[in-house]
Amino acid sequence: MLQWPAGVLVREVGPRDGLQNEPRTISTNQKIRLIELLARAGVRAIEATSFVHPRAVPQMADAEEVISGARRVLAVLEAQEGVRGVVLSALAGNRRGVERALAAGVDEVVMVVSASEEHNRANMRMSIGQSLRQVEEAVALAMGTGVVIRGAVAVAFGCPYRGEIRPVEVREVVGALAGMGIKEVTLADTAGLANPRQVYELVNMLCREYPAVNFALHFHDACGMALANIVTGIQAGVKIIESSVGGLGGCPFIPGSAGNVATEDVVYMLQRMGIETAIDRHRLEDCISWLEEILGRKLRERKPGCTNSTV
Ligand code: COA
Ligand code: ZN
Repeated sequence: MLQWPAGVLVREVGPRDGLQNEPRTISTNQKIRLIELLARAGVRAIEATSFVHPRAVPQMADAEEVISGARRVLAVLEAQEGVRGVVLSALAGNRRGVERALAAGVDEVVMVVSASEEHNRANMRMSIGQSLRQVEEAVALAMGTGVVIRGAVAVAFGCPYRGEIRPVEVREVVGALAGMGIKEVTLADTAGLANPRQVYELVNMLCREYPAVNFALHFHDACGMALANIVTGIQAGVKIIESSVGGLGGCPFIPGSAGNVATEDVVYMLQRMGIETAIDRHRLEDCISWLEEILGRKLRERKPGCTNSTV
């Protein structure tokens, strides 16, 4: 019989993937407050910002200030309420971004490489080969600092510019990352094109080929399949899921892209399945209400099962 894991790490990507697509400028203090509310809800892994070119993603122009502010509030939370162990990560795509992230004091840097040349050029303005060299430089820069370099494969399940992505194309990028000693790789369904069988088969193949690598899954919920994709991903061996509070998000380099799968739905589903996340759903609701206030709109129609349940 299938063994379900006792627990899954739910990494919150709302402050980065969620906010980067918001048209309205969110102040630095509001971003820091969001990170604080997430930590208060029990979230222990937060992708806080990205160190990319401010022209490419203006919303992330204050990355340094967000990290230093988040450090400040997390230190207070630890001293006053005993909240500890919150890991702050940030995204980067090139050497300059890694240098900035290391100087800012992140715990982890996630280096993004796309599975298709077309998306990689649109996103990072370089080839996959050039991006992989940036990752190599990142690994060298982080050596001895204690900062972890993670990998992420964008458009791993389908590319809006190119169409189908063959598993071998993902395997090539993952193989290159694993060869650099990278221990965790996120498979990102950047455009929301994945289906549950495809997720199962890709994760299953990659887990067999790269047993030293931990895989994380990251879905955008374009067609309502994200939760099903998460279930089959967990069945295939994944223990890290990325999501965004309130289902915020989208890729600025994919026109009309959908938001991330909502953290509250992931937490609720896992809780009902008896899989521990350590996140308090009711405290997440406080975070969502606060976000709705500052964004000036309802984030999404919550499913009745979620809002009415007392579980
Ligand atoms: N942060 C700040 N400035 C940066 C930077 C970074 N990460 N990377 C490059 N720059 C600066 C360079 O220092 C250079 O400045 P100069 O003109 O004053 O010398 C200038 O930008 C151009 O550098 P170049 O390497 O030619 O960059 P580019 O214009 O080809 O852009 C990226 C490449 C990767 C920086 C840009 O495409 C980018 O930031 N993309 C991020 C996309 C993203 O965030 N996608 C969503 C998440 S997956
Ligand atoms: Zn994403």
